[in-house]
Amino acid sequence: MKRGERVVLALIGLALVAGVVHSLLHVDGKHDRDIPFYSTATHNEASAAMDIYRSSGCKSCHSLWTLQDAMQFVPAPMLDGIGSLRTEDWLYAYLSSPDPQAILPSRLKKQYQMPSYATLPESQRRLLAKYMSSLKVKDWYLEQTRKAEYEKLTGLEDKK
Ligand code: HEC
Repeated sequence: MKRGERVVLALIGLALVAGVVHSLLHVDGKHDRDIPFYSTATHNEASAAMDIYRSSGCKSCHSLWTLQDAMQFVPAPMLDGIGSLRTEDWLYAYLSSPDPQAILPSRLKKQYQMPSYATLPESQRRLLAKYMSSLKVKDWYLEQTRKAEYEKLTGLEDKK
């Protein structure tokens, strides 16, 4: 092979590698800038539900839309994407249960556990459950969200 040919082949090789690297980086970069969480609720549903969310103190233990209390230290699962993990019926039953830990066992001390919202008016529990079920996560981030939830609920690393 002539020297000129070797140079051309090397250049082609480099271009191929650069192309592969670029396409890999491009896919990752796209997801990095992309927020994986969204809601299918209407503006009115969302603002009514967020009013109840705030007045019921959910924010003192959970994070949602990256909102959380500065003093928050309870390792409660984040609620972003929860509607991709739980159904509206499940959420309503959970919020309405006099003993939420009978539905979802807790690893925490009593004062940090999910409180019962059975005494909240039914219409408010329905609104909250409906809104929570509208909080979705995009497919590419679903496994990550499931893992984070598992770790918050059990304190264990999910090895799946
Ligand atoms: C005192 C802290 C605290 C407050 C206040 C609180 N939660 Fe929770 N919540 C938790 C904890 C901790 C868990 C995990 C289960 C457990 O340990 O009891 C949980 C679990 C949940 C789950 C199930 C999450 C999953 O992974 O399936 C939902 C949904 C939820 N909470 C919604 C709410 C809503 C809505 C409010 C307000 C109306 C609220 N929580 C208020 C601490 C709290």
